[in-house]
Parts: sequence; structure tokens; C-alpha cells
Amino acid sequence: MTAGSFELKKFVAPEFVIGTDARLLAGRYVNNYHAQHVLVVTDSNILKERWARDVIASLDDEGIDCTIFSAISQNPRDTEVMDGAAAYTDAGCDAIVAVGGGSPMDCAKGIGIVSSNGQDILAFEGVDMIPVPPPPLICIPTTAGTGAEVSQFAIINDTARKVKIAIISKNVVPDIALVDPIPLTTLPPELTAHTGMDAITHSIEAYVSNASSPVTDIHALESIRLMTTRLAMAYHTPKAPEHRYQTMMGSLFAGLAFSNASLGAVHAMAHSLGGFSDLPHGECNALLLEHVIAFNYPSCPKRYEEIGQAMGIDLSARNHTEKKETIIDSIRRLRETLGVTTTLGDLGVTRNEIPRLAANAMHDPCMATNPRQPTRKDIERIYEKAL
Ligand SMILES: [Fe+2]
Repeated sequence: MTAGSFELKKFVAPEFVIGTDARLLAGRYVNNYHAQHVLVVTDSNILKERWARDVIASLDDEGIDCTIFSAISQNPRDTEVMDGAAAYTDAGCDAIVAVGGGSPMDCAKGIGIVSSNGQDILAFEGVDMIPVPPPPLICIPTTAGTGAEVSQFAIINDTARKVKIAIISKNVVPDIALVDPIPLTTLPPELTAHTGMDAITHSIEAYVSNASSPVTDIHALESIRLMTTRLAMAYHTPKAPEHRYQTMMGSLFAGLAFSNASLGAVHAMAHSLGGFSDLPHGECNALLLEHVIAFNYPSCPKRYEEIGQAMGIDLSARNHTEKKETIIDSIRRLRETLGVTTTLGDLGVTRNEIPRLAANAMHDPCMATNPRQPTRKDIERIYEKAL
């Protein structure tokens, strides 16, 4: 055992309940916080679903008043956070329930920060910048991907600078996550694919991160195993509860891993694309992942081999190059199976935007934990490959 094995590591995780109908506990948990009026942060499509109305009913049953805030983009904006914080204050709310994917949950985190600290959300960019803890936050994820329901991260679009800022703090870890597979049964196939590839990216980036630990490793590898075996099944048989449950678990494990080990170049580059061009986060990750693995591979081949084994790939009797190509090929085939066959060029990214995208990606905090430190030129080349 090397001296490095004894390095100090910490692991932060909120209370969570996972299983069918966990969402129906919302009212009971709000009551536990003695809150009387919650801001429900969601998006307008979600509110059309019966399972979402069940959440509101669980609050009603406990005599809790609700104000709905649903004006949120696919990449939540600073202005939307400020509007949500005004709605929270105007209605006299004392807790937040987020029902949605990463966007409503990150926006809800931002609303909580602003409501308790009274400044513009952009003032809290960086690590541990939130002096006053936010009000109670209950998260009900409706995609198997984001991990925001357990993470120390909130990613918000700075609309003036056209970059995504990262707010990283124990103060943005939700108080409770109600992780329920039922919302996934109405998730459209494209979103299943994009958010699932986001979760796979979380676990792979956390596993090769400079800040990984034995505790994050366990969650990352199990997430890789679950997501790579179940995601395609969930995509092809969307109503099958077993696959949905396992992908929800995979996403939760990925969230626990990356919340504590941080991420890498894929996320730094996807954040840059989301901030500049408002592109879907999961799809950006899916299109960048294999190219970043190819770049990172020489820095930690053993870690990638372990990822390959968790994916169920037989890597015996293969040389170094064959192992690398087999792992990257498997990721590519999974992406294609999920119908993600676009390129960044198809999404409207142009060659002359790449220098600015790369410059912003280099400043993203996720880049610091990438296992291989790239130059700006390296990042430009990876964007070009994904174009
Ligand atoms: Fe992500």
C-alpha cells in the first residue's frame, strides 16, 4: 500500500428514498420540516403528467400550500433563478420541492441560495461561496441522468457572458431526494438516451478523476455496470419498470460518484457548449465522450480497463491499443443503439466557434480533475473531431 492510499477523502450524500412511488412522500417530508407553503419548481411538460399531479396531491393531503414555478429553459438561466426567487419570496414560501430533470433541480438550488442570501445568483460562482444555508429542498428526479438530486453542484447559465457557471457547495446538496422510477415510464426515448449518456459520462469521468476515492469508485463502477446493461433495454422497452428502476439506481450512483470526485473534460466542454449555444447537456456529453476517452486513455489505461470490465467487455488477449479501441468502440455502439448519431456540426456548431468554446472549457472547474491536463489546442482538436 502506498502513502497516497491514506490521503484524506470525504464523501457527502443526502438522505434519499428510492423505490416505486417514493414521490408520494413529498407531503410527509415537507411536514417534517414544518413548512407550510412550498415553491414547486418544475417544467410545464411535467405538470401534464398524472404522476406529477400525484406529487401536488401529496402536498395538498398534508394541508401544504403550493406555488408553481415552471418558466425554466433546458439550460437554466440566471434570470430564471432570479424570477423563481422573487416568486418564492412573494408567495411567502418556506421550502422548495423540485420535480424534474437537471434544469428544474439546478434552478431550484439557485432559487434557494438567492432566497436566503439576497444577492444575484452569479455572486455564488465557485466553491463554498454560499454563506447562509438555503431553505429545505426536496428533489424528485424525473430523468435517469442528472444526479442533481444528490450532488453538490448547481450549473447555471450566465446569459450575459454566455457561459455556464458552477456553484459547488455542501449547501446545494438537497435535504432529501425521492428517487422514483415511475416518472421515467413517460420519458420520451430521445431524453432517455441523452440523460442516460449523461449518467454514463458522470460515472466514467468520476472514475478517472484526479479526485476519485475508494468510496466514489464503488459508486462509479456499479453505475457503469447498471447503465451499460440497462440503458438500452430501458430505451427499447420504456414501460418496463425493472429497467427504469435500475437506470434510476445507476443515475443515483453516478451522482454520488461525481458529486464527490468531480468530473472532467467532457463536462467542461459540454458546459461550454451549453452556455454558448444552449445545446442539450446530455447530447453534448454523448457526442464528446469517446473523443475525450481517446485523449485521456494514456494517462490512466488501467482505470479505463476497469471501466471496460464493468461494461462487461472481455479485454483478455488484447494488446494496449486493442483494449483502448474496444472500449471506445463499445461506447460508440451504445450511443448509436440509443439513436444518438448526430455530430456537433449537425447541432449547428461551426469551426470558427471552436477557439472560444475551447477557451471557456479551459476555465471550467471540471477541467481541473481531468486525468490528463490538456492545452487549449488539445481541446480545440477534440471539438473538431466531434464536429
Ligand atoms: Fe452531466
